[in-house]
Amino acid sequence: MAIILGIESTCDETAAAVVAEGTIVRSNVVASQVDLHQKYRGVVPEIASRAHIENILPVIQDALAQASCTFDDLDAIAVAYRPGLIGSLLIGVTAAKTLAWSLGKPLIGVDHVQAHLYSIMLRGEGQGARGRDDKSHPALAPCPLPHAPCSVGLVCSGGHTAMYDVRSWTDISLIGSTIDDAVGEAYDKVAAILGLSYPGGPIIDRIAFSGDPAAIVFPRSLLGKESLDFSFSGLKTSVLYHVRGVPRKDAPPLPVRFPTQQELPNLCASFQQACIDTILIKLRRGIAKTGAKSVIIGGGVSANRGLREALRSFDVPVYFPEMRFCTDNAAMSAGLAHVLYEKGIFSSLDLDAVTYSQFH
Ligand code: KG4
Ligand code: ZN
Repeated sequence: MAIILGIESTCDETAAAVVAEGTIVRSNVVASQVDLHQKYRGVVPEIASRAHIENILPVIQDALAQASCTFDDLDAIAVAYRPGLIGSLLIGVTAAKTLAWSLGKPLIGVDHVQAHLYSIMLRGEGQGARGRDDKSHPALAPCPLPHAPCSVGLVCSGGHTAMYDVRSWTDISLIGSTIDDAVGEAYDKVAAILGLSYPGGPIIDRIAFSGDPAAIVFPRSLLGKESLDFSFSGLKTSVLYHVRGVPRKDAPPLPVRFPTQQELPNLCASFQQACIDTILIKLRRGIAKTGAKSVIIGGGVSANRGLREALRSFDVPVYFPEMRFCTDNAAMSAGLAHVLYEKGIFSSLDLDAVTYSQFH
């Protein structure tokens, strides 16, 4: 049974995890930096990389201790080396290379976006295999998946909103992506407009629950009849104008105004509904284009309750990660690395951090 240590430091979470056989999560430690970035309402790259330096070794030690294993028990060291903030990536990549070299173990670099898709495969120790009776579940199929074209993959997070044709865990191609903001970024920016805290996604999701999604009609940017790309910046501006009024040429800038507690639920619910409707329309287009038999969703926004509810009875089966594997974590990297390990695909010790995804 191959046991892999995963390391994640692409953005503002320092994480390490021990995963057996690519799916059994023996430990999953995440040191959040939310408190450090909250007052800036977004991630400050320099602060993030400094915090990674402080957190990385204790987090790795915790992950090993919680999995009751030592460095000797590991078969490989995995790290998310792309995409992300360069200063942040460098800390994880350097730690992983140092461990791999000093322990004489293989190093496996993985793409963070690909790992978000893979996160649907993860489960805790003692939990049964997921989707056992479901013939369309990618977990049933060894790579490559037998029913290619298999799944439309959607990664929706703070840094990414992109759709993929997923034929196997190593055969993935980009079919659409955001031309401006990522959907999680729109949640965070709209939260700032509404005077809410950071990260905005979980807060808007919670407040939306008690609001009327049809109260305010915000735009759904679809970008042309057949486009598989996304755009969320117009929606964000529309929320801004709704709250503060539309600025007029040659008039002084409108004063900052935050909605009242009574206004918030309908605003949050209507914004969230616009995001969900857009995602559903794009997924349907992706399925029509690829002939996919299922949908895989990963990334922070896949934790959204409204989105999960809306996709409960979708046209094809939809697979979400467990809640704890939606936002950034290292278990997804260790899990995906197992696929590469089995294929004998290893990285050399001159692996470099890369800021953009392998899927352009
Ligand atoms: O995957 P992630 O941890 O980091 C990136 O790779 O970007 O995603 C973080 C993003 C943030 O923008 C956060 O607001 C959003 O995911 N998010 C949510 C929810 N939970 C986290 N957005 C909507 N609803 C949620 N429940
Ligand atoms: Zn992420």
